[in-house]
Amino acid sequence: MHATVTAHPNIALVKYWGKRDRALNLPAAGSLSLTLGPVGSRTSLRWGAEQDRVSLDGRWLHEAEVAPFTRFLDLVRARAQRVGAAPLGGAEVVSENDFPTAAGLASSSSGFAALAVAAAKAAGVAMSPAELSELARRGSGSAARSVFGGFVRMRAGERADGTDAVAEPVFDADHWPLSMLLGVTVEGPKDVSSRDGMNRTQETSPYFGPWVETVEPAVEAAIAAIAARDFERLAEVAEASALAMHASAIAAVPGVLYWRGATVEAVHAVRSWRAAGIPAFFTIDAGPHVKVCVPREDEERVAEMLRDVPGVSRVIVTRPAGAPVVHG
Ligand code: PMV
Repeated sequence: MHATVTAHPNIALVKYWGKRDRALNLPAAGSLSLTLGPVGSRTSLRWGAEQDRVSLDGRWLHEAEVAPFTRFLDLVRARAQRVGAAPLGGAEVVSENDFPTAAGLASSSSGFAALAVAAAKAAGVAMSPAELSELARRGSGSAARSVFGGFVRMRAGERADGTDAVAEPVFDADHWPLSMLLGVTVEGPKDVSSRDGMNRTQETSPYFGPWVETVEPAVEAAIAAIAARDFERLAEVAEASALAMHASAIAAVPGVLYWRGATVEAVHAVRSWRAAGIPAFFTIDAGPHVKVCVPREDEERVAEMLRDVPGVSRVIVTRPAGAPVVHG
């Protein structure tokens, strides 16, 4: 009735932004990501509690904050019931991230992946990786990808029930020695959650449709570039995907603008490095931080350079990592 799981966050190289179904959290298009460590979420879960209780980074959440977790845990309770297990009761969840929570550094991806795997394991309910990905997706779209390590493709799927809207591994973590440098700019929680940002974009941005059209060709192009370990090509595809996603968000009404001055400074810096022959490309999620992907051999010198960009307060160095680990 108890399990502890560590899961790693992922950063999308081809972004997910928009849903085909809100209730089931089904993406409007696919995406492609890289799972990254050593940072991660460590989540312990025990079934059999009187009610659901959740502690996040050392703070027990208020009732209203626990509600979304209860809806998520209900999915596992229902599944356990379907396979004839004894009622699970409430869950006591203690989760710690070793990187900033809710700041556009993908903590929801590792958090819900760890929670999905821990909840199923502690319940003794056997679930395939695809089923765990489907479950994690209900917590957060990007979490569906953190159920796997390395390079991961998320499928939009077509079925109304979302059983085909799951992620699948494409290449292992050791396929290509890359590093992802997380350039932290403005610290603290973001103004607009990714959920609200993407919903507003979908409802009001004239560029939402055109953005969605870019996604599947970009996923295919990125997979071909990764297969060939073609850094220049991956750089082109990944930067274009991030910029097109943000362009669609900026054109929402009111515009969803995650960037700060330092974000733009870092983007220009990365482009000038590449023009000078230093392989590096950027990507940006629903926050002001800039993630910079480099070949492993350039990790140290580019991390130094990124630290020197005005407004970048610190750099977290990450590398491709594996699937969630169950500690028992
Ligand atoms: O998983 P969510 O709902 O937090 O959405 C993630 C959205 C982006 O990080 C901006 C893009 C992505 O594909 O991860």
